[in-house]
Amino acid sequence: MSHVHHAPKTVKMGDPAFRADPYPTYAWLRQHAPIIQVKAPFGFGKAYMVTRYEDVQAIFKDPRFSTDMRRRGSGEINGGFNRFMPRSVRILGNQMVTQDDPNHARLKNLVHKAFTPARIASLHSRIEIITKDLLDAAEKRDVIDIVEDFALPLPMTVISEMLGVPEHMRKPFRDLMTNMLDTPGFALSRFFRQFMTTRRLIRFLGDLIDLRRREPDDGMITALIAAEQKGDKGAGDKLDQEELIGMVFVLLLAGHETTVNLIANGTLALLENPDQFRLLRDNPQHIKTAIEEFLRYTNPVEHGVVRFASEDLPVLGVTIPKGSVVMAMLSSANRDESVFKDPDKLDVTRDPNRHLAFGVGMHYCLGAPLARMEGAIAINALLARFPHLQLAIPPTAVRWRPSVANFRGLIALPVRTAA
Ligand code: HEM
Repeated sequence: MSHVHHAPKTVKMGDPAFRADPYPTYAWLRQHAPIIQVKAPFGFGKAYMVTRYEDVQAIFKDPRFSTDMRRRGSGEINGGFNRFMPRSVRILGNQMVTQDDPNHARLKNLVHKAFTPARIASLHSRIEIITKDLLDAAEKRDVIDIVEDFALPLPMTVISEMLGVPEHMRKPFRDLMTNMLDTPGFALSRFFRQFMTTRRLIRFLGDLIDLRRREPDDGMITALIAAEQKGDKGAGDKLDQEELIGMVFVLLLAGHETTVNLIANGTLALLENPDQFRLLRDNPQHIKTAIEEFLRYTNPVEHGVVRFASEDLPVLGVTIPKGSVVMAMLSSANRDESVFKDPDKLDVTRDPNRHLAFGVGMHYCLGAPLARMEGAIAINALLARFPHLQLAIPPTAVRWRPSVANFRGLIALPVRTAA
């Protein structure tokens, strides 16, 4: 890939060329324009984009950069948006990522125990079995799609089993999410389609929760319903129906749309760097540093959720007016040359590796231990099973999802399983 630095007139987040390789643009921005205004995703109007590691980290760590869109109030740039916020969008926002403390902390605490490294370690053998079954099926074919046949079904099965989502409801959820995230087209039709999808999604989540009310199991949805009903341990344990929907939504979404990118983007990075492929295949003990490097180098999540300035806030000498949208690019921070040596080089033994792929500060990824374990099991098993794995399409034919930024994932990754 070329790394010729060019001056972007403007950064178009959805542009296929930018999606394919945003890194030269980020490198230019870090050097020449570390804070700029761009068109924001999801109809948010204009946003400030910040690209240097230090500034990205500072914004994530500063709760005055709120993730709660209700904090936008009468923002100078996009004022008035709140009046038009549909009820369905508000419900999906009723969860930990898009709320400030104390509500954020209360919601995170309710599920935090299920995601501690010790609890996640207990899933190890189950994840190995799911991985093995997927590879057994893949082995029967010469060409498989790493995304659909491997990287997606693994985390999807794991999070569905943790939550208690029955098999027949898993694909419909995925289809709804694809519809919502990957809707190209003109602004108005996109807005309409997203609006309709959001409504269907809320109904879907409501049905799922009702199912677990009628048929309780030992999964997290059932446990959360119990927390909703109890309410006798004080406010700390209470959840209302809208919060229940928001919670299930964020866990299912994060479980589906992120780890798939770690596994598939990581596989692509190895195929593009055969020396690193061989190094890891022949030395699987490097998997720990390799996973951190895939997180840094491939950026499954590009910028987390957008932030809103809850007051006038200075960044790099610019005053960001209250109510403005701020996008702090984790994917650019992870290639910052002032922090990482040879940042555009994939090095599966890189250590230390202070990447920000899981975010930083109070919204630090709840699922990090799970994602790391799924990624490690998946990639090592893939390399062991198919030691001569190869791309089945020319590298230039690899296509990235048009997803409105944030999730950095491949549409497909066709590979040959045997040499
Ligand atoms: C490679 C996989 C993953 C990556 C790269 C990733 C990345 C992130 C990032 C960047 C954030 C911070 C968002 C922000 O502050 O704007 C975050 C938060 C979060 N992630 Fe992950 N994630 C991954 C996997 C998962 C998994 C498997 C789950 C489990 C269901 C999960 C659940 C969450 C939750 C609930 C939050 C919100 C935490 C909070 O608001 O305090 N993530 N993740």
